[in-house]
Amino acid sequence: HQQEQQLHVRKQKEIKSGDLGDDEDGSGGGGGLEGTDPEENNSVHLKRRVGLVSGVALIVGTMIGSGIFVSPSGLLVRTGSIGISFLVWTACGLLSLCGALAYAELGTMNTSSGAEYAYFMDAFGAPPAFLFSWVSTLVLKPSQMAIISLSFAQYAVEAFAADCDPPEEVVKIVALLAIILILLVNCYSVNLATGVQNAFTAAKLIAILVVIAGGSYKLIQGNTQHLKGAFDTMDGGTVNIGRLATAFYTGLWAYDGWNNLNYVTEEIKNPSKNLPRSIMIGIPLVTLCYALINVSYLAVMSPSEMIESEAVAVTFGNRILGVMAWLMPLSVAISTFGSANGTLFAAGRLCFAASREGHLLDCLSYVHVRRFTPAPGLIFHSLVAGAMVLSGNIDSLIDFFSFTAWIFYGGAMLALLVMRRTRPNHPRPYKCPLMIPVLVLGISAYLIVAPIIDKPQIEYLYAAGFILAGMLVYLPFVKYGYVPKFMGNYDHSKIIIDKNINAK
Ligand code: ARG
Repeated sequence: HQQEQQLHVRKQKEIKSGDLGDDEDGSGGGGGLEGTDPEENNSVHLKRRVGLVSGVALIVGTMIGSGIFVSPSGLLVRTGSIGISFLVWTACGLLSLCGALAYAELGTMNTSSGAEYAYFMDAFGAPPAFLFSWVSTLVLKPSQMAIISLSFAQYAVEAFAADCDPPEEVVKIVALLAIILILLVNCYSVNLATGVQNAFTAAKLIAILVVIAGGSYKLIQGNTQHLKGAFDTMDGGTVNIGRLATAFYTGLWAYDGWNNLNYVTEEIKNPSKNLPRSIMIGIPLVTLCYALINVSYLAVMSPSEMIESEAVAVTFGNRILGVMAWLMPLSVAISTFGSANGTLFAAGRLCFAASREGHLLDCLSYVHVRRFTPAPGLIFHSLVAGAMVLSGNIDSLIDFFSFTAWIFYGGAMLALLVMRRTRPNHPRPYKCPLMIPVLVLGISAYLIVAPIIDKPQIEYLYAAGFILAGMLVYLPFVKYGYVPKFMGNYDHSKIIIDKNINAK
């Protein structure tokens, strides 16, 4: 039994032979690390399986998660009027589209998977690339997970607390339980995790369609009173330039995931065509959905009711769906659970890949010997995410996340500009207008600086601290390869994998 539980290190060599791609039952279900195709020469070739349709689905499926069901109220508070909040929603869509087009250039120039990591390596060298993997494993991925599971909990609990605000502790406990459940699913099997993902994506689409259909119906009936006087500032609401940036944080969270296809460039069929095309279809589609949903919410409730509601989609359902009102919290809970699952799935792979490169503790690259899941990485992420759930709330976590994420998105724009200079003749199958990265770089600088000036929050300091701490870790442990005695210094490549265990 102990043997079964044992986790073995599989260094790159073994991965190259496609071992990790075999799942327990040999059915080879879809998973992030799968699709490796052992060639005669033993080199990996990720199969190019992602065409235009699945490319669009990958983008849309990642982008639509918790945000559109929790952010509208926060955005309204931060902008002070429905007109400006609507403009911010649309601007966030445009900004994501521009960012993604610049990423399309980067992604077709360097087609290795891993997005920012690969581009930073090309443009700036190892230290910034290390910092990215450090921050994304320690901060970005766990905070995404924490935000989404808190949103899940809010909806799951709200369904049972029709007339009162559910206590915060209950929401946090439910969020922690969700993380544990998702962790178990992901440690148990890759197939189960991807199965959950597919089924739950459908729920998300149902929720979106119900909101849009219900809202359109109400609008046709003539419920347009809340849309009048769109730019009148609501009581107590003010906008200033710094606060506007935090409104963008809230909106951009709902759009986050626009760069998702860049993480799997190696698997896209004809990437120089399909990557930009998927982006140009997927992101406007999401922007349109979000705009329609915002109008739909307002067809059913007033802006102040929207602000008061802890879970807008539940309020929406209660008003419009009658006896079917339960459908709304259920499908939102399922949708958010699905995104949390997908996020942990990706996070586990990232952690695994970064530690395999020697950029994180070796033990995080272990893979469960029978289940082929990167269990230690997953557990590590869940622990960090759990700590974030306990210590923060959705809004502060979103600020923390967006602040950190936009430092790196801005960095990628800089990488593009740098490479236009340093590698002018490198083939660029897709070249975006120079204006785009310049614009996005400018906006990301604004997004990083404005909130600090407006209202310095401790979260921003934490985020900056993490990034700097990364540098302190990089020099001794990564650059000079120092391994503390207590961690042992054995040669992992000598560990022999007991094939009998696999066979069982
Ligand atoms: N936009 C998603 C949401 O509204 C969050 C996506 C998180 N990002 C990611 N790359 N998984 O919940």
